[in-house]
Amino acid sequence: MTSSSENNTDNSSASHDETPDANPSQLGRILREEWRLLFGLSVALVVQAGVSMIQPWPLKIIFDHVILDKPAPETYVNLLSPYWDVISENLLIIMIAALIGVALMNGVGLYIQNITLTKLSQKVVQKLRVRLFAHVLELPIAHFYKMAPGEVIERITTDTDDTQKLVEGVSVLACRSFPTFIGITAIMFWVDWQLALITLGIAPVLVWGTYFFGIRIKRVTRQKRRHESEVTSMTEVAAKTHKWIKLLGLEEDEIERMEEKSRRSRDAAVEAGSWQGYYTSMTNVVLAAGSAVLLLFGVQSIQAGRITPGALLVFMSYLRSLYKPIREFTKYFIKMTKAMACNERIEAIMAITPCDLGVCETPEADPLPTFKKKIVFDQVSFGYEPGNDIIRDISFSIEKGQKIGLVGDSGSGKSTLLNLIPRFFDVAGGSLKIDDRDLRSFTLESIKKQVVMVPQEAVLFHTSVFENIAVGRPEEAPTEVEIRQAAEKANAHDFILELPDGYETVLEAGDTQLSGGQAKRILIARAFLRDAGIVLLDEPTSGLDPASESLVMEAFDRLSEQKTLIVSSHRLPIVLNADLIIVLRDGRIIERGTHEELLEKNGVYAGFWQEQMGM
Ligand SMILES: Nc1ncnc2c1ncn2[C@@H]1O[C@H](COP(=O)(O)OP(=O)(O)O)[C@@H](O)[C@H]1O
Ligand SMILES: [Mg+2]
Repeated sequence: MTSSSENNTDNSSASHDETPDANPSQLGRILREEWRLLFGLSVALVVQAGVSMIQPWPLKIIFDHVILDKPAPETYVNLLSPYWDVISENLLIIMIAALIGVALMNGVGLYIQNITLTKLSQKVVQKLRVRLFAHVLELPIAHFYKMAPGEVIERITTDTDDTQKLVEGVSVLACRSFPTFIGITAIMFWVDWQLALITLGIAPVLVWGTYFFGIRIKRVTRQKRRHESEVTSMTEVAAKTHKWIKLLGLEEDEIERMEEKSRRSRDAAVEAGSWQGYYTSMTNVVLAAGSAVLLLFGVQSIQAGRITPGALLVFMSYLRSLYKPIREFTKYFIKMTKAMACNERIEAIMAITPCDLGVCETPEADPLPTFKKKIVFDQVSFGYEPGNDIIRDISFSIEKGQKIGLVGDSGSGKSTLLNLIPRFFDVAGGSLKIDDRDLRSFTLESIKKQVVMVPQEAVLFHTSVFENIAVGRPEEAPTEVEIRQAAEKANAHDFILELPDGYETVLEAGDTQLSGGQAKRILIARAFLRDAGIVLLDEPTSGLDPASESLVMEAFDRLSEQKTLIVSSHRLPIVLNADLIIVLRDGRIIERGTHEELLEKNGVYAGFWQEQMGM
């Protein structure tokens, strides 16, 4: 198992580096699907970049050629010669119209940018989330045992959300900030290289300031968020343990702790605010100082006749426009590094294939024909971690229609053994055969159809009772009559009718308003609906009170009638009538036989029996 998962990481990184096109990242794939939005966004951003370059020019022209009445440059006069008279007469009106036009263009660009950016990033997040969710669900069970549930949840919720910053950052930087910066710089050098150098002189100070304050603001904001979540979780714990806090007289201590924690959160918020304040002031001072220097040299240049007064206006305006792309570079730089890390984690999960985890279908896999003869465990071994076999050297066979009981202490490997039959996990050594063919040569789907497993814990979904039963047969939606019949056979119909909304009562996932026995009977109804030939019951009576035990057992007996059954239990009366009882200890078979044979043997089983019967 280790070697296969190591291979996986190798493969994925190799394929990402070498052939990015043959195997594009999920993000790349989604962006390609959403190319229209991406294109719209780029156009809007480029328009905005253009606007910030043209913006001061109408004013310059009004200043130089209307107010100061300077002659227009020859090139323009020649270029526009047929219309020149009309233009020069109406120059003020034309330039005011141009100012309005530029403002309108900016408005439209901003509007389109906002809409397309929101749409695009939300689509990316949503698609990525669904694909990741689907991928994780399609992975073999084994994967979940390797990852903490919190980690999976974080990947699917926060990480996907953060990747939108990547989309936003890349598009804004590539289509707006960068062109704006380059465009403005180029125009400035074209007009006057000395003033251009002076204007650009503030750039390093702004970059340094944005970075310096940016990381500090970010750090304290993160601290603030952490303290806030501590306050939240403390409140949650206090609400849950209120009774005990009061009983133990811990109110004062708790209030003190809350005060401490909320103070930290407050301090961090104040610190963040003050860094933000320094930053804004610093920027303003730097911009003002830059303007002052520019003004000084600018006026000298005008007096020397190198530039026009209007050109100085353009420089003054560009000085402020430069600040925006610089701030965007720094802002997105920090966000994008984080988003990239998130995206890498997502890609790493997406790159895992079922085969990396051992449970996969070969291309030659066939559907499993209807089970006819027998299931054979031949020297089977398996462990959740390599080198640590949980079950070892297990050999036995089950004829069609037989009932097998698995007994043994808790932790002896009963559930693990049952998990191998529907291929939640694949055997590590030996083989598991159905009708003389290795289970691994059949498709997973077809195996699932013939196996029904009622797990030890009540796995209920947050939906109606009806749906909770219907999930037993996802291939073909059951009718109301079928659901009802299944519930009746499972001894569940009567109590379901007593629920507030009957079959439409919505259950809570995990802990339920149902008793253990009721939850179990819903699972049995689900199993009836599935109607598979091989029935696996894991600790059918665990956690039940004696009254519901008999109802549940009756339902289980009905479920396994005419079926091939493997039932695990540490309660011996459950397996009493089995055709074969297998006693497990530490993952090995230590005894086997019928109840009578095992009693006669007077070994471990007989010991259990005497213990449980109170003899
Ligand atoms: N998902 C898992 N990952 C690692 N070890 C496990 C896992 N599930 C069970 N085990 C270990 O396997 C052994 C057998 O467990 P299990 O099959 O649940 O026994 P039983 O059902 O007989 O109580 C135990 O030592 C248990 O700790
Ligand atoms: Mg178990």
